[in-house]
Amino acid sequence: MSSAQRKDDHVRLATEQQRAHSGRNQFDDVSFVHHALAGIDRPDVRLATTFAGITWRLPLYINAMTGGSTKTGAINRDLAIAARETGAAIASGSMHAYFRDPSCADTFRVLRTENPDGFVMANVNATASVDNARRAVDLIEANALQIHLNTAQETPMPEGDRSFGSWPAQIANITAAVDVPVIVKEVGNGLSRQTLLALPDLGVRVADVSGRGGTDFARIENSRRALGDYAFLHGWGQSTPACLLDAQDVGFPLLASGGIRNPLDVARALALGAGAVGSSGVFLRTLIDGGVSALIAQISTWLDQLAALQTMLGARTPADLTRCDVLIHGPLRSFCTDRGIDIRRFAQRSSSADIRSEMTGITR
Ligand SMILES: Cc1cc2nc3c(=O)[nH]c(=O)nc-3n(C[C@H](O)[C@H](O)[C@H](O)COP(=O)(O)O)c2cc1C
Repeated sequence: MSSAQRKDDHVRLATEQQRAHSGRNQFDDVSFVHHALAGIDRPDVRLATTFAGITWRLPLYINAMTGGSTKTGAINRDLAIAARETGAAIASGSMHAYFRDPSCADTFRVLRTENPDGFVMANVNATASVDNARRAVDLIEANALQIHLNTAQETPMPEGDRSFGSWPAQIANITAAVDVPVIVKEVGNGLSRQTLLALPDLGVRVADVSGRGGTDFARIENSRRALGDYAFLHGWGQSTPACLLDAQDVGFPLLASGGIRNPLDVARALALGAGAVGSSGVFLRTLIDGGVSALIAQISTWLDQLAALQTMLGARTPADLTRCDVLIHGPLRSFCTDRGIDIRRFAQRSSSADIRSEMTGITR
């Protein structure tokens, strides 16, 4: 099967998966402590975020999905228009289809032509040659390069890779050779603390944990198998909030994606330490069902409601959300217990005198 046909399959199956999603995921195990006097004035709220020397106007981005076929070139055009109209950063889908068949270049280039001033990320896997990684960045004049890790997708994929041992060395080679920041990301199964701690030695200084809770590629690939005999891999990995909790103090900035359903999930991920938050499956479904105007409206509403949440929670900036008190419940709490993560740290963050006086405006 060609990579173009596979990409069309992924779009169809991911959209079906979104429609069938139960609605619940581990973000439901994260809640903010409500402080009724913490509110601030809406005009004082800012959405800009800075991580690893990169500043984005918004803490929300359209994460890697498509390109490589006629159909997904049209999707990339719409995603790029939505990114341009809202100011959100955007990532390309894997650009290996372009390495195999340069005639599909325009299906990726459209991300830049429609969005000349935006922050655009190229995307390759960890087997890409250094030359190809550079070609990917050049084709779309990318501001950063994502390298995706996807063992739980390749394993059930009928035509997938079966050997992963070369990945760390190749990530280091690519990182040393490209002159844009490299972001290592998962594709919906999560990055563990141990994985994250290995990245600085490979030259990587930003990672997107992209955890479980939304698009499930093990399930998508299993449904492309004649026998569907990898059903036991459905739901593999750690949820996005679990990854963020696991990653506390890793010493470099993190982005979060995987299972973001609404503006509250964006605020939860920011409160757990993400520098910005990405969505793929939900945005794709909106685009397929309602067209580009529906996607622009959805992103605009999310941003407006994120600002409203920050106002209520007293967070002038997205980073201020990391000072809000957060409670961890249910299976996510058990995960923290087993991994030795101190959740009281999150529940009692605003108890310092500083934050108390900020809330009342009264210094003692
Ligand atoms: C249709 C589709 C195609 C995707 N293709 C890629 C890809 O080519 N490269 C990549 O790094 N991630 C890819 N992803 C994974 C997303 O970037 C993201 O990590 C994952 O879907 C989890 O986010 P979500 O739950 O918001 O969908 C794809 C996701 C979807 C829905």
